[in-house]
Amino acid sequence: MPNSFFITTAIDYVNGSPHLGHAYEKILADAIARYYRNRGYAVFFLTGVDEHGQKVQQSAEKEKMEVKKFCDIQTEKFLQLWKKLHIHYDAFARTTHPSHVQYVRDALQKLADKGLIYFKEHEGYYSLRQEQFVTEKDLVDGKWPEIYGEVIKTKEPNYFFKLSAFSEWLKSYVRDNENWFIPQSKRKELLGALERPLADLCISRPVSRLSWGIPLPFDENYVTYVWFDALLNYVSFARKEGDNQGWWPAQLHVIGKDIFIPAHAIYWPIILKALELEQPKHFLIHGWWMNKGAKMSKSLGNFIDPLPYLEIFGADALRYYLLREMAFGQDADFADDKIWARYNSDLCNDLGNLVQRITVMIHKYRSGVIPSCLETMMEENEKELLDRDLFEKYCLSFEKYDIAQALQEIWQHIKKLNRYIENNAPWSLAKNSKQSQRLDCILLVSSICLKRYALLIDPVMPQTANKILSLLNIETKSWKLDDLFFAMDLAGKEISAPSPLFPRKVSS
Ligand code: MSP
Repeated sequence: MPNSFFITTAIDYVNGSPHLGHAYEKILADAIARYYRNRGYAVFFLTGVDEHGQKVQQSAEKEKMEVKKFCDIQTEKFLQLWKKLHIHYDAFARTTHPSHVQYVRDALQKLADKGLIYFKEHEGYYSLRQEQFVTEKDLVDGKWPEIYGEVIKTKEPNYFFKLSAFSEWLKSYVRDNENWFIPQSKRKELLGALERPLADLCISRPVSRLSWGIPLPFDENYVTYVWFDALLNYVSFARKEGDNQGWWPAQLHVIGKDIFIPAHAIYWPIILKALELEQPKHFLIHGWWMNKGAKMSKSLGNFIDPLPYLEIFGADALRYYLLREMAFGQDADFADDKIWARYNSDLCNDLGNLVQRITVMIHKYRSGVIPSCLETMMEENEKELLDRDLFEKYCLSFEKYDIAQALQEIWQHIKKLNRYIENNAPWSLAKNSKQSQRLDCILLVSSICLKRYALLIDPVMPQTANKILSLLNIETKSWKLDDLFFAMDLAGKEISAPSPLFPRKVSS
């Protein structure tokens, strides 16, 4: 049985259309999933949509549409975009799916049977945007922070989950598991937040106020709080036939920083603990894509739509830009000039021209057949170009989930190969028959490097990787990185006619 890797993303609210922030997270998780598949792991990649709750109900009402129909239309937009971006997920969660609904109801019943849910009248403040109760402690300078939107005072009886009973357990779990959160600084942030006493979690909403949700199994006058419902998708959609636990526990939850505390760092571990389920192995918490320094938000109407960029640059280049430009764990500013620069310099000049140059030379000087060269004939710098260093640094970066760093390692090597070709000037060697063996070595070493780049960029740019492999006449369907990377058997392969990987574009 190969090693397995279960990775999830946040499930997106369907009240709006998918934007660049949603897309980034799915691309990030997709690249990690593809990396582990390439290493031979059995991977299960789960993503999906969050369909219940007030925001979705209100948006459907605005459109004068039946809520389920509205969700179907919105969900389709996400599915279409993921297809265009080549997001290769193994399962797609929709929280309206009957098996998920049943799973949530069973979980609630289990918690109620354990005496962990109680009913009480609660008077307090309620954030309409976040769909949660807030307290005066959440005020900043006497005002509700913008993230809460409109905050109203309500008094209503509701069901509560005894979150507070697990406060000490959570603190010690977080203290004992140093690498639970990536980046590690998030652990400190959580321990800081846990210094305040935990309030119990209101897990119901009265049907009179909100009907679009999963009815509580023990009181049909209430539906389930949307976060309680949504978080459980990670388990309910990861089941395997005849095996209830299925893929759980997740190896990695990929989420944005806005849904770390309290949802994923407090509610989720405690729900799991109360249900006697294992904890996820790690959380990867990414930053935000900003638009000219501002967070994208409905109120500012400044969401970036990935579609026009996809049309100009294609999926691979957009994926590359997003993963290359966002520094690990930080926010990044989306800017047209930066994506243009990355396209023209990294993709078109560095990688595209290199592939073009080498394949054209193989056609010109060796009739399209990769020549052979004994290892003993290779010079020191050629052996260095082919050593293990790149593979090891790349894997290390990917396994820290630092994809920008992994890409940087590849590009440093690409620059090295470009310099090596410049310094050795194969076009001059081709004029001198005494230098034929040297030229063979240069063309073989360069071809092996190209193959390696294709394998290494595959998680980020799967189409480009396939194009390079096909060009080199290498089977693109099933390969294992650890084997194919080190295989040196390219000599004798007839390569195809090159066509530009990244045609030069000018910004209009
Ligand atoms: N439905 C909840 C998640 C439930 S998970 C059990 C939700 N949905 S969301 O649509 O608001 O956000 C989905 C994901 O997109 C979150 O991880 C969020 O951080 C991410 N992003 C939303 N805007 C973003 C940016 N501007 N930049 C990067 N990612 C951001 O929260």
